[in-house]
Amino acid sequence: MGKIVIAIDGYSGCGKSSTAKAVAKDLGYTYIDTGAMYRAATLHFLNNHLSATNPQDVEKGLKSLEISFHLNPENQLQETYLNGLHVDDAIRSMQVSNNVSRIAALPAVRKDLVAQQQRLAKKKGVVMDGRDVGSVVFPEAELKIFMTADLETRAIRRQAELLEKGETIPLKDIIENLASRDEIDSTREVGPLIKVEDAIEVDTSNITFAEQVAFIVNKAREII
Ligand code: C5P
Repeated sequence: MGKIVIAIDGYSGCGKSSTAKAVAKDLGYTYIDTGAMYRAATLHFLNNHLSATNPQDVEKGLKSLEISFHLNPENQLQETYLNGLHVDDAIRSMQVSNNVSRIAALPAVRKDLVAQQQRLAKKKGVVMDGRDVGSVVFPEAELKIFMTADLETRAIRRQAELLEKGETIPLKDIIENLASRDEIDSTREVGPLIKVEDAIEVDTSNITFAEQVAFIVNKAREII
């Protein structure tokens, strides 16, 4: 069949990004982290003191927002840039995590970022992770995965990730953040997080990282 689009959606913190990255590497595909784009937009709003409830601020924020991905030749990792600055650390702070779902619920923000995501994946050979990839961005994706894991497992994993970056956050705060994002993401009017009918559910609570990657890669190879 040739190159396909793989959409990986699911709840916050269930390992979508690391899984998608590993699947892309295995298949020689491009990985696109749509969450990083909503996070970068949020950082832009926070840095410029723009209010999500003021339509003029939202318009101003979107006009001055430029998000891009660049491959770092030294480590072969794809890095996120906001208006020319590398922001991968800044967009994963708790401050951004606590505000991102509010910004991501704005229809104007979704419209712009979805259009950019569709342009980025035009050539196929792409693994894209997010909340609405299989439902809105690429409803025609050849392989759709819906990842889940129980809330506590997700929070423990996220806490370890943040600790590695030097941020010590109480588990309770992480559980609250994940639960609140899931709630806002699942109930918003535009592009809510849903499991579409043709998505394959992968519960990662009790399987290893290598197993979940192998499962998706095998599914992809059945189609390719
Ligand atoms: O994937 P990640 O957890 O980094 O995404 C951060 C936030 O961005 C999510 O909680 C959600 O509010 C928003 N998001 C979204 N649609 C996507 C990807 C992420 O609304 N496709």
